[in-house]
Amino acid sequence: MTIVPQSFLSLQDLTKAFGKVIAVDKVSLHIEKGKFFALLGPSGCGKTTTLRLVAGLEKPSSGRIFIDGRDVTALPPQKRDVAMVFQDYALYPHMTLRQNIGYPLKVRGFPKKSIATRVEEVAEHLMIADILDRLPSQVSGGQQQRAAVARAIVHAPKIFLFDEPLSNLDAKLRLEARAFLKHLQKELGITTVYVTHDQAEAMAMADEIGVMFAGRVVQVGSPLELYRYPKNRDVAAFIGNPPMNILPGRLEPKAGGSQFSGEGYTLFFESIHVLEDTRAYLGFRPEQAQLMCDLKDSGIPAQLYAVQPLGSEVLITLLVGTETVYVKLYSESLPALPDLVRVKVDPSRLYLFDSTGACIKVPK
Ligand SMILES: Nc1ncnc2c1ncn2[C@@H]1O[C@H](COP(=O)(O)OP(=O)(O)OP(=O)(O)O)[C@@H](O)[C@H]1O
Ligand SMILES: [Mg+2]
Repeated sequence: MTIVPQSFLSLQDLTKAFGKVIAVDKVSLHIEKGKFFALLGPSGCGKTTTLRLVAGLEKPSSGRIFIDGRDVTALPPQKRDVAMVFQDYALYPHMTLRQNIGYPLKVRGFPKKSIATRVEEVAEHLMIADILDRLPSQVSGGQQQRAAVARAIVHAPKIFLFDEPLSNLDAKLRLEARAFLKHLQKELGITTVYVTHDQAEAMAMADEIGVMFAGRVVQVGSPLELYRYPKNRDVAAFIGNPPMNILPGRLEPKAGGSQFSGEGYTLFFESIHVLEDTRAYLGFRPEQAQLMCDLKDSGIPAQLYAVQPLGSEVLITLLVGTETVYVKLYSESLPALPDLVRVKVDPSRLYLFDSTGACIKVPK
């Protein structure tokens, strides 16, 4: 019996192998109608392959895909009503922006007049109406990107699939394009899957993020859920700018709790109980740590390595043993730093991960 999912886009145990490489490994995702979903993960983890499976450009080795309650697993791309924007925009170089944008309507046999009207409408919306008769090579990267988006939305698909569409833009243009895409997606209300390896981009744009490692989606949640409650060390070390500091150590049972021993410091955790001495990892966010200059203070002993002013904040790189630790402070509150300092974190802000990397303590 087929159970038709309630969510708008549903991937069920989706697997794709290329020979011995399992690019996508039993991925199950359920995305509600109108949501902006980001698929986030490092290079090679299977993001593009997942997107291509949804688009119908790859055939899954096993598993199923449902769109709007319909099993589309065996359908060709043109019958799925999805629009994909590729990383390199993939505009046809010999066609003007007008021809590029109108192309999906032309191949669907729309009459010339209605194509012309629709292209004008969409271009207006994307603020490229005045450059429609130029070739892609005659417009800027940001304008090309908008033209690629225009081509994707010209026939109002059921789903948008974006594969790192902003990766070629400079920092300022990227910021503008993020805001523009987020605004457009909310206005059109089209369910969107947005692939990126940039956690800041996923955090800034998505309603929900799926974090992917080695073909698997390991955690799904809102940007703040992932930031506050990472399920494991991999997610913790991927999210945040810079990501969470993670320090190795040992955790051993002590009366009323457990003691974590790291390089030159110990910390007591009341709420944590372990059966025996075991390897563990301490975690804390760079923006939640403080630096103490008096060595009589308690805290994690650290050596100053570099100070990078970022404007309103300063990023300080330290060494704890051989591990690199980042601390982010407001420029105004930056004391004169000696070579040796103590890193202090409010105990309620600390994370602990067990030897397998699973998170066993999150902030209260
Ligand atoms: N056509 C193919 N044939 C063989 N292996 C492939 C093919 N396409 C992808 N792979 C492999 O599958 C894995 C996932 O690739 P994919 O392109 O989905 O990763 P990605 O997450 O999009 O990475 P990136 O961030 O670098 O774009 C990689 O190991 C890749 O080498
Ligand atoms: Mg990719």
